[in-house]
Amino acid sequence: MIHPVQFIRSASDALQTLLYTHWKKYSQVVVMTDKNTSEHCLSHFRNTFVNRDFIHIPLPELTEENKKLRSIENIVAKLMYTQVDRNAAIVALGGGVVTDTVGFAASVYKRGIHLYLIPTTLLGMVDAALGGKTGVNFNGIKNQVGSFYFPREVIIDPGYLATLPRREWESGFAEMIKHGLIADYAYFEQLINRLAAGKMTDKLMEHIIRSVEIKMRIIQTDFREAGKRKILNFGHTVGHALETCALQSGTPLSHGYAVALGMAVETALSVEFAGLEKATSRKIIRRLLEVYPVPEGMDTAMTDCIMEAMKHDKKNSGGEPSLVLLQAPGMPVCNKKIPESEIREAINHTLFSV
Ligand SMILES: NC(=O)c1ccc[n+]([C@@H]2O[C@H](COP(=O)([O-])OP(=O)(O)OC[C@H]3O[C@@H](n4cnc5c(N)ncnc54)[C@H](O)[C@@H]3O)[C@@H](O)[C@H]2O)c1
Ligand SMILES: [Zn+2]
Repeated sequence: MIHPVQFIRSASDALQTLLYTHWKKYSQVVVMTDKNTSEHCLSHFRNTFVNRDFIHIPLPELTEENKKLRSIENIVAKLMYTQVDRNAAIVALGGGVVTDTVGFAASVYKRGIHLYLIPTTLLGMVDAALGGKTGVNFNGIKNQVGSFYFPREVIIDPGYLATLPRREWESGFAEMIKHGLIADYAYFEQLINRLAAGKMTDKLMEHIIRSVEIKMRIIQTDFREAGKRKILNFGHTVGHALETCALQSGTPLSHGYAVALGMAVETALSVEFAGLEKATSRKIIRRLLEVYPVPEGMDTAMTDCIMEAMKHDKKNSGGEPSLVLLQAPGMPVCNKKIPESEIREAINHTLFSV
């Protein structure tokens, strides 16, 4: 069963009624936040759900670095200490780190208790909170332990984005741009134009809804990532490797920024290996790099690291990098095995102009 996604445009939305009815059936409602969402999002939550009793459990230590099994133990201990029972509901109020970690804890606490996700980052709204995947990192490898666990609802309220730092906006936007490239080219162009004009908030709700529709449609056809869901990994094979290397070199890139650069490289490879028209490929790359320029100081010295990091990608099969490429805009193809030398050349040429 795929979970319903609800959108809130204002606190007076009809959804309120729905949630109030739900809320009554629970013995307790427990809201969990990280440090930033305690500070920036909890008051908005209180204002939205006036007169509702809830227990707040802050998780100030929860960050990507601590997205580990240790945090699950910590959450379980706090839930037990607060005597949260099986008929309670948990609300994860935060970005992808909170929804992934708290979601995983909710899926195992007393063998699973009801979960509501309220993403507070753009990336959370259009990506992390959708699709029922929860999890934590293990031994430094991302999302190695987790579960498929659907929340009762995902509640999307762009009001939370008012305090989101620019870097996080750019990160979320890159995933939306990816949705455009794999499913709706006109949407890609709209997003790039908005970003280039510095107007990320124009038609924001419309764009969030479009991205949710695209991701949900893909998930519905392939819930356990046996095939079609893989197209959501477009830009991620090269992107993840870049993210790792940028972090190691002391100039970290946001996930989305790295994915945007990854999409540029994978679009370049699409000409030879998926039949994408050269002119189209050039145009996509130019537009991507216009809004996500290669950061100063990043050059070919990073290519070796990127190639090495790609070898450890969990999306590989049989040790070879496996990429999603574009046959045409909106027409991705999966599982493309590309010789390493070609990937290396595409990185150097596309990102570093050599
Ligand atoms: N489950 C999935 O299918 C899925 C998909 C994509 C990503 N993810 C996971 O999501 C995580 C990334 O999520 P993210 O990009 O949302 O990062 P994040 O959760 O780390 O949030 C980014 C930063 O913004 C802060 N923040 C959150 N909301 C805020 C707000 N409204 N105002 C001010 N600050 C706010 C957070 O505290 C954090 O410092 C990764 O761990 C990734 O693995 C999961
Ligand atoms: Zn991503």
